[in-house]
Amino acid sequence: MSYVITIDGPAGAGKSSTARRAAHELGIKYLDTGAIYRAIALILAEAEVKPDNDEYLREALSKIRVELREGKVLVNDFDVSGEIRTPEVDELASVYSALPVVREALLGLQQEQEKYGSIVAEGRDVGSVVFPDARVKFFLTASPEARARRRYAERTSKGEPADYSGILSAIIARDKYDSSREAAPLSVPEGAVYLDTSDMTEDEVLKFILDHVKAALSQ
Ligand code: DC
Repeated sequence: MSYVITIDGPAGAGKSSTARRAAHELGIKYLDTGAIYRAIALILAEAEVKPDNDEYLREALSKIRVELREGKVLVNDFDVSGEIRTPEVDELASVYSALPVVREALLGLQQEQEKYGSIVAEGRDVGSVVFPDARVKFFLTASPEARARRRYAERTSKGEPADYSGILSAIIARDKYDSSREAAPLSVPEGAVYLDTSDMTEDEVLKFILDHVKAALSQ
């Protein structure tokens, strides 16, 4: 019997690495819904489909085919996995993901992934909107400072330029926007296990998640 585990929360709370590692440990698939929003935002922006025209958006969305294959994101068969991880796409994804027409178009694609077996889904509304009946739901968060420290370390470890205070103010601004947007504002899904990871290592977070999931699956 397949099952869904959801992990929601703000950027930088450790969702991605936790979800990826948890899926690996459980021997199931990892669904990165943020990657789908990023890919769509990139393609819409490149095609100059402005976020303020629902009709054009709907038409453009009907022509875009997003696929998740072996950890890669493909748009109309074109691999955009690398291109979607830039600060520019952070901004674009935040804008386009706030649009109800975009969220509606991507709902089915996300839900469909359950057909192919058990998944750990990660995002902003996967426990509330996409998979409300998930077996176990988590909400991972961390203080803005802890999240900025992690982002800073991530960027510098890749040799990319990084400025801690700039990252921190971007995180605070993004949180405000993501929590107050009308479509699917960031919120704790009903029944989710809430975890503040500010003072936890990645291994500790992973252990916490796996312990909970294993206890729930054995019931
Ligand atoms: O998790 P991420 O940074 O890759 O997400 C990219 C953007 O997409 C971010 O602005 C939040 C948004 N998003 C969303 O609105 N709903 C999701 N389920 C996943 C991501």
